[in-house]
Amino acid sequence: MTLEDKCVLILGGTSGIGLAVAEGAKAEGSDVIVVSSRQSRVDSALKLLGKRTEGFVADLSDERAIEALFTKVGPFDHLVYTAGDPVLQRPLGETSLEDAKKSFDVRFWGAVMAAKYGSRSIRPGGSIVFTSSTLPRRPVAGFAMGASLNGAMEGFAVSLAVELAPVRVNVVAPGIVRTPIWDRLPEAQREAYFASRAATLPVGRVGEAVDVAEAYLSFMRSRFTTGQILVVDGGRQLV
Ligand SMILES: NC(=O)c1ccc[n+]([C@@H]2O[C@H](COP(=O)([O-])OP(=O)(O)OC[C@H]3O[C@@H](n4cnc5c(N)ncnc54)[C@H](OP(=O)(O)O)[C@@H]3O)[C@@H](O)[C@H]2O)c1
Repeated sequence: MTLEDKCVLILGGTSGIGLAVAEGAKAEGSDVIVVSSRQSRVDSALKLLGKRTEGFVADLSDERAIEALFTKVGPFDHLVYTAGDPVLQRPLGETSLEDAKKSFDVRFWGAVMAAKYGSRSIRPGGSIVFTSSTLPRRPVAGFAMGASLNGAMEGFAVSLAVELAPVRVNVVAPGIVRTPIWDRLPEAQREAYFASRAATLPVGRVGEAVDVAEAYLSFMRSRFTTGQILVVDGGRQLV
């Protein structure tokens, strides 16, 4: 039960958690295909990952781009969806309907459309792994849209586990993980935030992308596991 000689397609695989999944899958002998919206990031990921790797540029907030992507990608075994933009942080009273809807575009609707157009290319024994977060279970004021889209993501995934069976469908819900998604914060502020969060966590540190990647790899390998949500948060839900 390894990923040897499988093909893993990672939408959002050029950075952070997705890139760590790509590295892990390659280390087990998989072919890997990474996709994201910026050519520069696709190029850097391909350079890092080396042989048996392909890359495509696609804006995953655009249904037509997703449909076009799957005309170029051949059959594969596992679809991983880690594409995401920074979560909307705003009190509800200051959130326009337009911004609320837009915050679902990449992380929820992109995942939905990837499953719609991509699931037919999954080989027997294959799976989909989506991404959620701790927000639906550990809400934080100002992040209602993030909690909503991730709650929707989890509901969608467990429904698909039934609808697309025998394709397996699972979700990883990461806690705070040190990735480039946090680069929008100035370094000192970012490090202070990580340190303050680390101090509250049972494991005493924030996550690294490789910690969370293992959960995606495990779902791909586990042929008897479907419709599950695995929280990988350093124990944040406990405290
Ligand atoms: N890091 C955390 O603390 C944390 C916690 C909970 C959940 N998550 C979730 O985990 C997922 C991965 O996050 P990460 O931390 O690994 O972030 P990251 O390092 O910023 O990676 C995000 C990836 O998504 C791609 N992407 C963004 N917008 C896209 C678009 N419109 N079309 C195609 N690709 C797009 C990015 O590439 P391009 O820039 O080239 O498009 C990049 O490859 C996200 O959904 C995030 O919300 C992260």
